[in-house]
Amino acid sequence: MSLADRDRAVVWHPFTQAATADPPLAVVSAAGAWLQLADGTRVFDAISSWWTCLHGHSHPRIVAAIAAQAARLDHVLFAGCTHPGAVALAEQLVQRAPPGLTRVFYSDDGSTAVEVALKMAVQCHAQRGQPQRTRFLALESGYHGDTFGAMSVGDPADFAGPFAPLLWPVTRVAVPTVDGDPLQSARDLTAALAALDAQLAACGDTVAAVIVEPLVQGAGGMRLYPPAFLQALAQRVRAHGGLVIADEVMTGFGRTGALFACEHAALAPDLLCLAKGLTGGTLPLAATLATTDIYEAFLGPDARRALLHGHSFTANPIACAAALASLAALDEDGLLAKARALHALYARILPPLQALPQVRAVRWLGGIGVLELHGGGYHDAHQSRQIRDFCLNQGVLIRPLGPVLYTLPPLGAELGDVEHAWRTLAAAVKLLR
Ligand SMILES: Cc1ncc(COP(=O)(O)O)c(C=O)c1O
Repeated sequence: MSLADRDRAVVWHPFTQAATADPPLAVVSAAGAWLQLADGTRVFDAISSWWTCLHGHSHPRIVAAIAAQAARLDHVLFAGCTHPGAVALAEQLVQRAPPGLTRVFYSDDGSTAVEVALKMAVQCHAQRGQPQRTRFLALESGYHGDTFGAMSVGDPADFAGPFAPLLWPVTRVAVPTVDGDPLQSARDLTAALAALDAQLAACGDTVAAVIVEPLVQGAGGMRLYPPAFLQALAQRVRAHGGLVIADEVMTGFGRTGALFACEHAALAPDLLCLAKGLTGGTLPLAATLATTDIYEAFLGPDARRALLHGHSFTANPIACAAALASLAALDEDGLLAKARALHALYARILPPLQALPQVRAVRWLGGIGVLELHGGGYHDAHQSRQIRDFCLNQGVLIRPLGPVLYTLPPLGAELGDVEHAWRTLAAAVKLLR
């Protein structure tokens, strides 16, 4: 029996309608930006395996660090214990993050990093004597993960389904999205900010925080918006007593050409959520960074003032070792420069595709290149499948978000391979009627 057949008998896959899905790709190994399939073919991982794989697969430095750490200390509980990797990584993150973020709380994945930030915001206000501050603002088409808090602040349109009645109410802010290069955008923000002002006024003193994916709304369709909007949004929310949570689970670690997307807006958030690329995409690990002010709101003689939250694998030593090696490799391999080189490549090859009648818009930022087709809702799966299959047959793995096609390759990928991926995508688009 093939691996795919055995898989079908016992495995339940994420975000997959098993009744209609193609058999899963059987991947047996990977190196650099390439996946090796069981049938002997190679596929270019144009989406970094769900945006995790930062350098390329199995970076030697990270592999060695994982092996050495596994032999030294595999795991230890993180309440009442610490270990060198967790401390060294926290030191590095504090040093590299936007100013003011001085504390690192570890968890396991993007959703938990978000849950922790949401809880910190609410509890922090309550312990400062403002328990009414429980209202979150979040962006339309935002996505922050699949646990209940993360789902609540995510846009319910595409993902919440039957869980909608269980989600808490959120003030949903319209986003002035732009095409092309958002760093060059001169879009007039007057109407968007007037609408935001009205929403904030209606919230009164109940605002806990705003949560944003800075500049790039990933799962919502690789929507981009200008840094000036992020700046103005943060400034207005703070003026209403709210905190600013930057969810950089997808954008962190150079994906946008800066180490953190907030840097494009010179924004220092109060809480910063990191995951995916934190370990270079090798192991699950997440971090929520907080300011000294927030941390101090949890101190006191009463044990219940603490953040009563934790996971079995909090700050797993092997994952911390992978993250430290990933950060060292990020510097050593010049990944930020590589992200900027991808940005320049997209700026050259995407605008001409705008001329195709099937194309509504193109946009790009750092290592993220996007082509949006006309029409089609998120669940209009037929076209997406046609494009995905065409690309796969040409050795390129993509995962369209409805009418939105994009590449977000490992930053260590060869530019020529990314250009080839786009030639393939363009050929697929031209076949659409
Ligand atoms: C911006 C953002 N936040 C949170 C998450 C959730 O991360 P995870 O899938 O690791 O739980 C994602 C996942 O794609 C994301 O893109």
